[in-house]
Amino acid sequence: MSRATFRAAIADAVSRAAEIDREEAAEQLVAPPRPEMGDFAFPCFLLSKKLKKVPPAIAAELAGKLSIGIFGVERVEATGPYVNFRLNKLQFAGAVLREAAVAGAEYGRSSEGAGKVVAIDYSSPNIAKPFHVGHLRSTIIGGALYRLFEKLGYGCVGINHLGDWGTQFGKQIVGVKHWGKPEDLSDLMALNQLYVKYHKEEETHPELANEAREWFRKQEAGDREALDLWRAIRDTSLDYFKRIYSRLGVQFDTYTGESFFNDKMEAVVDAAKARGLTSISDGALVIDLERVGIKTPALLKKADGATLYLTRDLAAAEYRHATYKFHKLLYVVGTGQSLHFQQLFEVLKLLGHEWAKDCAHVNFGLVKGMSTRKGEVIYLEELLNEARSRALKAMRETIEKRAEIDDEEAVAEAVGIGAIFFADLSKQRIKDYDFDWKRALSFEGDTGPYLMNAHARIAGIIRKCGVEIDPRADLAALVEPEAHLLVSLVSRYQDVLREAAKVHEPSILAQYLLELAHALHSGYNVLRVKDEEPKVAKARLLLLSVVKNVLASGLGILGIPALERM
Ligand code: ARG
Repeated sequence: MSRATFRAAIADAVSRAAEIDREEAAEQLVAPPRPEMGDFAFPCFLLSKKLKKVPPAIAAELAGKLSIGIFGVERVEATGPYVNFRLNKLQFAGAVLREAAVAGAEYGRSSEGAGKVVAIDYSSPNIAKPFHVGHLRSTIIGGALYRLFEKLGYGCVGINHLGDWGTQFGKQIVGVKHWGKPEDLSDLMALNQLYVKYHKEEETHPELANEAREWFRKQEAGDREALDLWRAIRDTSLDYFKRIYSRLGVQFDTYTGESFFNDKMEAVVDAAKARGLTSISDGALVIDLERVGIKTPALLKKADGATLYLTRDLAAAEYRHATYKFHKLLYVVGTGQSLHFQQLFEVLKLLGHEWAKDCAHVNFGLVKGMSTRKGEVIYLEELLNEARSRALKAMRETIEKRAEIDDEEAVAEAVGIGAIFFADLSKQRIKDYDFDWKRALSFEGDTGPYLMNAHARIAGIIRKCGVEIDPRADLAALVEPEAHLLVSLVSRYQDVLREAAKVHEPSILAQYLLELAHALHSGYNVLRVKDEEPKVAKARLLLLSVVKNVLASGLGILGIPALERM
């Protein structure tokens, strides 16, 4: 028996009382916004349209019809446009906790995505250009979406659409040629310095710009030396990124970046021409999008024949569709590129790709204040080192029992990452936010370290209570409202995952985990395990261990390590 059993029973009763389809009723059942309102709610808006009556009237009528005899339901009540259902606490707690205890780390997993592929384009930094905070946000949000969809049974493909082709390579090559040593080609820091030097020198020697253009022209024309240099620079950058990704716990299934599409753009350009979509404007090949409400035309080729970011993305979308047959293709990229993605999706539609509707721009706002001492551009490695040393300091100030930890540095690394990730994922992604080290690393506020601490605290209780976890424990002893709030929150986990996935919003999961940790925080004192009567201790321990599993699973999806000790 599980939450699903109760859902089915309620859906069944609602479908009979409201004369609607069972599936339809089940689909509409939601969790009320506050647990004290009940365990399930049926919204009456759709029925209102059908029956031409206001929703509260329908809710009241339905509640009257439904008041008796639904399996596990103790109370039915109309609240505004909703019918709220409260379950019998003991039956419900038993169902939820046993299911969760048996599932362990798998709790919340679903198979709804079976056979469907979600392709996620994220991180996608540019080579030979600085990594910006925006790329870090994309990495964090994209990684979370990847794990979220995976948990719901989807097959995920993580795509890193590296910006590995473009005029910046000309500049980087000029830097290497003029001021570099051969070994600089395999040293990213040296390459970065040469890139910076190029820009400085260019101010007083504008002729360098011509030289850079010439190198990139050669690269595009397939010149051996230019390509060798390009490849070396790309390899060095990619090695560096991969190192950082592994530190962040992020993975990609493919690194098909922009250069991969060099020979795949003619086909899409030809198709656009053949459909009569293109025109010439100031020598450039464009698609006018005025007819679909976009003022700026889509640029396919510059007057000199060079292709563009958009041309590559068109070829990439087609390639991905042919390769992965995706159910959804998500682009996790800052709001600054909204126009680009509107154009991309519209052109795909005009090209007759019915699947264009399955593509979405998962946009996000700006972050302010996330910089290291060296300034605006972030050197990821340095940012993570700074996070680690600040975390170590914060830990020394706040956590008392230091002796329990074997590897302080490793814990600090995890806490630093947890702080950065959670600061990012707890806000609605479209919002801009101010990053503040102190706030992000606080163990008291609504932070990653706070959640990690909640998890480790339960782990400590389990280790020290002297009682074994027993999934069949008698739960009659769980009488406190604090316990029932926790049960109710645990039961919602899968709904939360679904909702977060549906709107591509990891913050829904992050906020839920905070709610769970707050409920736990208010519960510790009344839900003691150690030295309690065995029956009471066992029931509470089962509850706490299940909460721990949910925290671990949720944190894992967000990319935050759940430690046993900290
Ligand atoms: N490299 C791009 C940038 O840094 C982001 C690429 C996003 N993905 C894409 N398919 N356009 O702005």
